Amino acid sequence: MISIKTSREIELIRTSCQLVADAHRAVRDLIVPGVTTAELDRLVERLIRSRGAEPAWKGYHGYPATICASVNAQIVHGIPNDHPLQNGDMIGLDIGCRLGGYYGDQGYTYPVGDLSPETWRLMRVTLESLYKGIEQARPGNRLSDVTGTIQAWVESHGYYIVRNFVGHGIGRKLHEEPQVPNYAPLEKNPRLKPGMVICIEPMVNMGTEEVVVASDNWTAAAADGLPSAHYEHVVAITSSGPEILSVRLEDETASLEPIRQKV
Ligand code: MF3
Ligand code: CO
Repeated sequence: MISIKTSREIELIRTSCQLVADAHRAVRDLIVPGVTTAELDRLVERLIRSRGAEPAWKGYHGYPATICASVNAQIVHGIPNDHPLQNGDMIGLDIGCRLGGYYGDQGYTYPVGDLSPETWRLMRVTLESLYKGIEQARPGNRLSDVTGTIQAWVESHGYYIVRNFVGHGIGRKLHEEPQVPNYAPLEKNPRLKPGMVICIEPMVNMGTEEVVVASDNWTAAAADGLPSAHYEHVVAITSSGPEILSVRLEDETASLEPIRQKV
């Protein structure tokens, strides 16, 4: 069963998501060569707790940190550590919190210093695929209109969809129905209805869809060691179309522009 949220519940999810967006904003300017992901983790945990919320991942199936920090070939679920980031790295930050009984969840891949044109292009195409998918998240469409659109955009640029991990519904629980893969066709392909709230999160590899999980049992990386990008928004389906709950609009263009300029 896919739960249909009331407008009050959607506002509570939005409030959680806005705290997560604030956390992204607080760390994005600190992502420079030399900083460690453990430092970013401490900062985000402090911010989330200072606002009366809890980190969503900490303790989830034993996950040990507040953020997931996935560097270069790492796709998702990278555990923060004390290695300084280096010029030319890219880092996916996935942040979640629980506030007022509802979850917020947002992922974004950031450049560290100067990136190669190939890495910028991967980030741009992945972010674009997310927005192409979001455009399809409207009543009357089926879930596969979202997921197939993401897949088509990614594959037409020569990249690979990660199939081992998927997006999800969100609300009182972090992971609710439906599962939201980044490909079509789908085994379960519900029609989208107003009040559904889903996390759409394309994970895109440069050279293979094959994934390896590290001995920490969390960190998932592209098997060929080439970079991987991940972007995630929480989207409410409303009668007038998709509504992004996870970011305020002033950030949207700001984050797309540097990517457009470089490619
Ligand atoms: N955004 C991820 C998700 O949707 C983050 C989960 S990290 C975990 O599942 F540690 F909680 F698993
Ligand atoms: Co998620």
